[in-house]
Parts: sequence; C-alpha cells; structure tokens
Amino acid sequence: KLYQEPYRLQAHFSPKEKWMNDPNGMVYYKGVYHLFFQYYPKATVWGPMHWGHAVSNDLIHWKQLSIALYPDKLGYIFSGSVVIDKDNTSGLGTKGKPAMVAIFTHHNPKGEKAGTSTYQNQSIAYSLDEGTTWTKYKGNPVVKNPGIKDFRDPKVFWYAPGNKWVMTLATKDRITFYSSPNLKDWKKESEFGRMLGAHGGVWECPDLIPLKLNGKEYWALLVSINPGGPNGGSATQYFVGHFDGNKFTPTSTETKWIDHGPDNYAGVTWSNTGNRKIFLGWMSNWLYANETPTVKWRSATTIPRELSLKSAAGDIWLTSNPVEELENIVTKTINVDAGLLAKDNNIFSVIKQTPTQYRLKFNTQAVKDYSVILSNNAGEKLVIGYNAKNSRYYIDRTRAGQNKFNKQFASIAYAPRLSLSPTSDFELLVDASSVELFADGGLSNLTGIYFPKIPYTRLSIVNNGMEIEDLQIQPLKSIW
Ligand code: FRU
Repeated sequence: KLYQEPYRLQAHFSPKEKWMNDPNGMVYYKGVYHLFFQYYPKATVWGPMHWGHAVSNDLIHWKQLSIALYPDKLGYIFSGSVVIDKDNTSGLGTKGKPAMVAIFTHHNPKGEKAGTSTYQNQSIAYSLDEGTTWTKYKGNPVVKNPGIKDFRDPKVFWYAPGNKWVMTLATKDRITFYSSPNLKDWKKESEFGRMLGAHGGVWECPDLIPLKLNGKEYWALLVSINPGGPNGGSATQYFVGHFDGNKFTPTSTETKWIDHGPDNYAGVTWSNTGNRKIFLGWMSNWLYANETPTVKWRSATTIPRELSLKSAAGDIWLTSNPVEELENIVTKTINVDAGLLAKDNNIFSVIKQTPTQYRLKFNTQAVKDYSVILSNNAGEKLVIGYNAKNSRYYIDRTRAGQNKFNKQFASIAYAPRLSLSPTSDFELLVDASSVELFADGGLSNLTGIYFPKIPYTRLSIVNNGMEIEDLQIQPLKSIW
C-alpha cells in the first residue's frame, strides 16, 4: 500500500512514487507551506528534472499535488526558489493579486552534451492561483550564463533597505550575488567565497538569511557542496557574517557545517515566514542516492528545522532544531523511569511498546562515552553516541542493515561537540529508515539514513555509570 512500503518514512515527506532530490521553491503563502522539489516522475533514479509540488498547513502533514514545472525547450528544471511579488514589481500579477514567482535554473542537456559551458541559465515562471498552474516567462532566461559550467540554484529574497530583489547564485567555486528591481532584469553585485570555506567539490544550492543574536542582526549564508562534505560526499556548509545589500562579509574564517551527517543536502529555508527561518534538506547523499534499497519511491526530506544563532567556543554558530509543529504528531510523552531502566536496559521493554517513529530525549554529563543502540533480531544495530576522548558525537551505521548497494554507505559519521557545558542534551528523531541527532540544543547535528532487514525492536542506552536525566520518549503518529 502507498506510504507503507518497506523503509517508508512515517514522519517525513517523501514523494508518493519515483525519484526526488532537492527541496525547491519553499514559500509560505496564505496559511499554506509550499514545497516544490526536484522530481523525475518516470523512474526511481535521477532523470530530466521537473518540479514536484506538495503543500502543508503545519510543515508536518503533506499532500502531494500535481507537477508544477515541466522541462521545456530551454531544458530541465533544476533547483531554485519562489517568492511572493507583493508589490507586483514584475508586473506578472496585479497589486490585489500578487504573483508567485519561481526563479530556477534551466539546464539544457543538449548544450551539456555538445560540450558547451553555457547550458545553465536562470529563468522565471509565475502562478496566479497559489502554485497550482504556472506560466513560464516569455523573456527567459533572465540571467544568462557568462561561461561558467556550474551556474545554478538561484535563491531570491526581497532586500527592503535597498528596495530590490537579491539573488544568491552558486557559480562553481563561489557565490555570486545579483540584484533586480523587478525579477526580470538582473545586475551582478559581487562574489564571495573563492578563498573561504570548503572546496572539495562544486558549490550548489545557496541561501542567504538574516538572523538576530542578542538583538544584533547577522546574515547566514548556506552553501551546499558536492563532494567535500565532512563525512564524505555531499553536505551543507555555512558562513555567518554581514550583508549590506551588495556584498557579504564573514565574521570568521572557520568552515562550519549545518549538519555533519551524510544525509542532509541541498537544504534551504522557506521564504515569506517573517523572522522565523525554517530549513529543510534532502535526506540523502549523491554518493549513493540513486542506489538506496527502496522500491517505488526514492528519497525524503529531513524534518523541517528552525534555525537560530548561538555563541559558543568564541564564535557564532547556527543551531537547528525540529520545528515545534512536530508536537502535532506526538501521541504522548513517556517519562522513562531510570530505576526500571537500570534493571532492563531495553527502553522498549520498559515502556512496553515498540514505536517505529519516535522522538527520544535525555540529559547527561559529557565526561564519558554514552550511546543509544537500536537493534533487531537479525543481528543489526545502529549506534548513535558521544565519544568523550575526542569530544564528538557520531552515528555508526556500519552494521545497521543493508549496505552492499554502495561501498561508501557503511560508515561512521562524526560531529564535533561545540558546547563547553559539562552536561549535554541529546535528542533523536527516529523514523523507519532515518535518524536525526540534535545535540546541545541543536549545535551539533548528524543525520543519517539506514536500511535494516527487519525493523528494530530493541532500544537501549549505554551510559557508563553516568546519570541519565529527564529521559523522554514520544511515539509519533504517521503523517500519512
Ligand atoms: C543539488 C543539485 C543542484 C541541481 C539539482 C539537479 O543536489 O545538483 O545543484 O540544481 O541538484 O537535480
């Protein structure tokens, strides 16, 4: 049955069927969260890209709608963003009925095959019926390729102090900023990053967002990179700095990662959500995305995460935490009795149920190793924990289930601990084939997918004599 296939996530968005990659065009409008996504409706592997479409009232329950954008003679529809043109700067809507404008990359496969370097260009399309039907602009492309092969993934926002739109574009080994009064005519403003950050691969899917820390405004620039992630393959780095409408200046030269895990890529934030910044990533990795052992459908998104800034270890960092709307599917909160747990380390047997999707939280000291182990009767286990000597969190999926589909899948991923607090808080979001760790209030995060032969029926904690405090488990309802 639909949404009940093996490995199908129950608390995360995935397409009904076929292939998905990057989340695209996320925009909040009239009480609805729109999610578009890189979609290939004919197969469970990557192919000519369309924009799929889904909507939600709460970021948790999703309804998939019909395809929003189809490839055309200018090419496939690659990643991009959507804005609400409230003041009708583009003239594509009216003052009373603003257009939803999608800004995306047209990727021309013929140009690519012919060996040209100008086959990626930025185009726009608009919708006057809340994203249901779209019209491509006749004057496409609106940003022509100057001769850079990797020239894509426009993320656009309204920069009110300058009364203009700003486009953040991934241009091979750097970010290029453009600006426009009307979403049609774009002018290059500046470049950032050729000498900064990680450069193990090409830069993709950027986003630039303002966030406050102690009343002061900063800008966070997210940049996905493939390959070159901290644990192999694709991952998303970020910079914290200042933006003056023309140019981005970082406050530190440290390379930072929004998530150290292998499976959080191409993530960006929703537009039109005011001061709230909500991030969503693609929960896979280009190393093996086309080979994961699901049938009928392939790939899902991370849980939507709220982003904030936090000072730690002499620098400014982004924290990510599940959006509070996740509460909408919490069936109950079970406070796990530490005494009972001491007698029987299997949390599932202590709480007398085996939920397939749940949230687990606890606090402990950060002076010795500790771990959470999920296992089954097929001898498979997934271990998520903290290593005190190296002061880092990890997800070990080397024996977590199927891993023969790709040599690089069976791995241990590490995330450095940034917090200097003597106690750590540890939160896991577990779904049928994914686990997301949010440690120290979302300062250190790891996301990984896994594919056990049979579901995990044991959940235990190894705490090396340290006290585990406030241990809670919250079984989650399926969103489908
Ligand atoms: C990132 C990415 C983007 C591109 C899209 C194509 O995962 O490679 O740069 O627009 O996927 O599907």
